[in-house]
Amino acid sequence: MASVWILPCASVFATLAVVLAVLLLLCLVWDVFDKRSPKFHAINRFPGPPVLPLVGTAYHTRGLDAAKTFDAFRHYTHLHGGSYRLWLNSGTFVLNVTRCQELEPFLSGVRNTEKSLLYRFLHPFIGVGLLNSGGEKWLQRRRILTPAFHFNILHGFHRTFCEETEKLAALIDNAEQPDGPGDIELQSMMSQFTLNTICETSMGVKLDTMDGAVAYREGIYKVGEMMLIRAVRPWLYFDWTYGVLGYARKLRRLLKPLHQFTSGIINQRRQLFQQGMLDDLAAGADERDTYSTSFDGKKRYAMLDTLLAAELRGLIDDKGIREEVDTFTFEGHDTTSAALTFIFLTLAWEQEVQERLYQELRQLHDEKSVRDGHFLANDLGSLKYFDRVIKECFRLWPPVPFISRSVTEEITLPDGRTIPKDCIAALHIFDLHRDPVQFPDPERFDPERFLPENVATRNPYAYVPFSAGQRNCIGQKYALLEVKTAVAYLVLRYRVLPVTERSEIRFIADLVLRASTPLRVRFERRSD
Ligand code: HEM
Repeated sequence: MASVWILPCASVFATLAVVLAVLLLLCLVWDVFDKRSPKFHAINRFPGPPVLPLVGTAYHTRGLDAAKTFDAFRHYTHLHGGSYRLWLNSGTFVLNVTRCQELEPFLSGVRNTEKSLLYRFLHPFIGVGLLNSGGEKWLQRRRILTPAFHFNILHGFHRTFCEETEKLAALIDNAEQPDGPGDIELQSMMSQFTLNTICETSMGVKLDTMDGAVAYREGIYKVGEMMLIRAVRPWLYFDWTYGVLGYARKLRRLLKPLHQFTSGIINQRRQLFQQGMLDDLAAGADERDTYSTSFDGKKRYAMLDTLLAAELRGLIDDKGIREEVDTFTFEGHDTTSAALTFIFLTLAWEQEVQERLYQELRQLHDEKSVRDGHFLANDLGSLKYFDRVIKECFRLWPPVPFISRSVTEEITLPDGRTIPKDCIAALHIFDLHRDPVQFPDPERFDPERFLPENVATRNPYAYVPFSAGQRNCIGQKYALLEVKTAVAYLVLRYRVLPVTERSEIRFIADLVLRASTPLRVRFERRSD
């Protein structure tokens, strides 16, 4: 009886094996032809790891966790001495751009400004807002939102930055109580501070009045992990595999509290708007005038108000408002939090730099008879050494270490090599800022690199923490004012001492620069 079954089973397996062998052979033949394509020849003029049959270089980050993925990119940049290519097939291939010569074409003109498919992975999280969109939609949104970052408006935000910095200092003081640990974990404390400020300045709501802020902050880390999982596994680039393998459902579950949080913000502000409490904007007043007259503190308008006013004029709908609120809440707090984290760590490691910075701040403080520990926004901008220190921190620790573009038009580089159409350009700001030609002895912290005479010797695209060109950071001035306000106040008040050493840090590949382990410093109250 058994032999009656064995025979048909054997023939089914034999047929399957033949089918699989034929399929494999066809794939191999296709792979050989694919590698004869002009795209392969063009991209192969860049160095890179060996391209294996069928799998190409997919082994490059295969199975690596977030920390090893981060290290792998640095390792390959070092190994290949600059930009290097990855290849799966002519539909999916990457140029990892780590030198300014290859970066310049992406940031200097109006071509190749479209974001790459990697940003599609962010759509469930922040929709297709200013960061993710392209073409007409992006242009229209940028026009609506640019006035919300006008000079006058930023000066109005300065008051909030000062108030929130004082709250941050109070938290630090409490941690310094005799029975407290005395040292501070920067990543969580700074993100609490920057989420408070972005919600108040851009959304017009105080976080103490909102539920879900903690869930939002923690949720963002998990979303970042899921983005990475997808980015380094090309088979998850298809929505159907992402869905079938259960990732889409997991992501939806994670995003629910995050979206509830931002919906709460919109609802709260919309109610005020509908109750006529933001009449000037609803009546179509110029936001810049409205904001500048609110500098006395009686009224504080927010970016969200600009969007609500634009909705009245039919320029954006409810979905659009949600996209921008999600984009700004994320982009406006996680970045500045990473910036502050690495600035305080660096000041702790570089005691001489900190002392010189303290002296510069102290001198201006005494000259201007500052009473509450806060400088005016214009005064913050006048501190030259401070500016160089912040710039050097952004060089070594760019809060956004990686951005990406889709090559929509072939690029010919000055050395004759071409970056073919359809290539994913991964622009690694972290490595770009460590190019030894532009920044000799790149790992050394040296603010004097940003003396005007030294800047003049460099390629203008060697240093781009806020990107550059058309798709540069809309929040750059906002971020600098926030960061400088907090750092100046805290450096005047505390001596920052090292706890976590530089050699201990393990970075992870994520949406912003983050470490896998706690990053601590000690804030010691100054008596002078
Ligand atoms: C130190 C802090 C910050 C850094 C280093 C930073 C860096 C960047 C970079 C590199 C980009 C280009 C992204 C890309 O090409 O994919 C960008 C874009 C953007 N940033 Fe920032 N950012 C910071 C703070 C902020 C803040 C505070 C906000 C909002 C208040 C903000 C909002 C945005 C938006 C909306 C975009 C997209 C702009 C567009 O495409 O038109 N950023 N940022």
